[in-house]
Amino acid sequence: MKIIVTGGAGFIGGNFIHHMVNKYPQYQIICLDALTYAGNMETLKSVMEKPNFKFIKGDIADREFVYGLFEDEKPDIIVNFAAESHVDRSIDDPEVFLKTNYIGTGVLLDACRKYGIKRYHQVSTDEVYGDLPLDRTDLFFTEETPLHTSSPYSASKAAADLLVQAYHRTFGIPVTISRCSNNYGPYHFPEKLIPLIIANCLNEKPLPVYGKGENVRDWLYVEDHCRAIDLIIHDGRVGEVYNIGGHNERTNLQVVKTIIHALGKSEDLITYVTDRLGHDMRYAIDPTKIKNELGWEPTTLFDEGIKKTIQWYLDNKSWWENIISGEYQKYYDKMYVGR
Ligand code: NAD
Ligand code: DAU
Repeated sequence: MKIIVTGGAGFIGGNFIHHMVNKYPQYQIICLDALTYAGNMETLKSVMEKPNFKFIKGDIADREFVYGLFEDEKPDIIVNFAAESHVDRSIDDPEVFLKTNYIGTGVLLDACRKYGIKRYHQVSTDEVYGDLPLDRTDLFFTEETPLHTSSPYSASKAAADLLVQAYHRTFGIPVTISRCSNNYGPYHFPEKLIPLIIANCLNEKPLPVYGKGENVRDWLYVEDHCRAIDLIIHDGRVGEVYNIGGHNERTNLQVVKTIIHALGKSEDLITYVTDRLGHDMRYAIDPTKIKNELGWEPTTLFDEGIKKTIQWYLDNKSWWENIISGEYQKYYDKMYVGR
């Protein structure tokens, strides 16, 4: 079995590659990644020498390159993680989100059509469903919830999902789609809430909380997401969408305070800043389908997962200190100074 994992030098793709390379020594795992600001070869350091792993640099939206890769490698499965993934960046500058998330997905699908594929898996997000009200804790996203997006990021991901489904219906490409809630864990880029708060706490810097910090996210430890995708590509039904989430809802303020207390810092570091435009209030996944069909359940609850994550950031300071000392500082100043 030969699997091309796109976006594997990023957060979730990197964790997925570790999972697959170690679990399936008989498979060939190829990482295709453009190494944007979010891609990091350090994330793949421990698998680079493994005989069943290969890294290839390239852009999923580059048609000639992608066709050449399919011709050379003849993959059995594509797992597409490659994306621009940060909502705030999509509000600042949407264009590259359309190029990578929509056009890039289209190029991969065309390559599957031209060269054949046993399975194309699209890694999507619960953000395609929009948001739920804070006062209706009885509501959850199911696979039947209509797509209703809020940000250029989520709109580009929803558009890609529709394209994947269209290629299944029109051309018979054997596809699956997963829509997961917020991930956290090792190798999470420090522009996102949890690693940003951990890094700022450790550096005694202000902790920027958007609005009142009341927005709710449904946090999933990244290894649980990787296990779910592993199950879907092996046993998921072709043409189906699977929601992935573990009923670990927390307000942003709860998350920030949990990190502050775990690191023995002061709540005085919390700084309320101007809210994100179009900010989704609450995400919450109903994972009944994947549980009933594939027997998947999350194994790491938030209270345990956040401790493991904080410990990882303490043990791997060089990984994130390298990031925040470079170009990232310009991004941080643009987004947060005077906000
Ligand atoms: P990330 O930003 O950490 O990593 C994205 C990776 O894609 C990087 O390595 C980057 O270099 C690569 N990439 C970007 N553009 C590319 C291109 N044109 N060609 C090839 N590679 C390219 O993202 P992440 O948080 O790991 O998210 C991965 C996927 O999972 C995304 O599709 C995202 O929409 C989805 N997702 C993320 C979450 C989350 O909580 N982070 C939750 C649900 C779904
Ligand atoms: O739900 C899945 C999605 O989760 C993925 O599709 C996205 O790729 C991923 O980035 C994530 O999106 P969010 O916007 O939910 O994640 P983020 O970490 O950016 O923000 C989490 C919450 O914290 C959100 O309500 C905004 C808030 N926030 C974020 C940052 C970066 C703050 O209050 N302060 C911050 O500095």
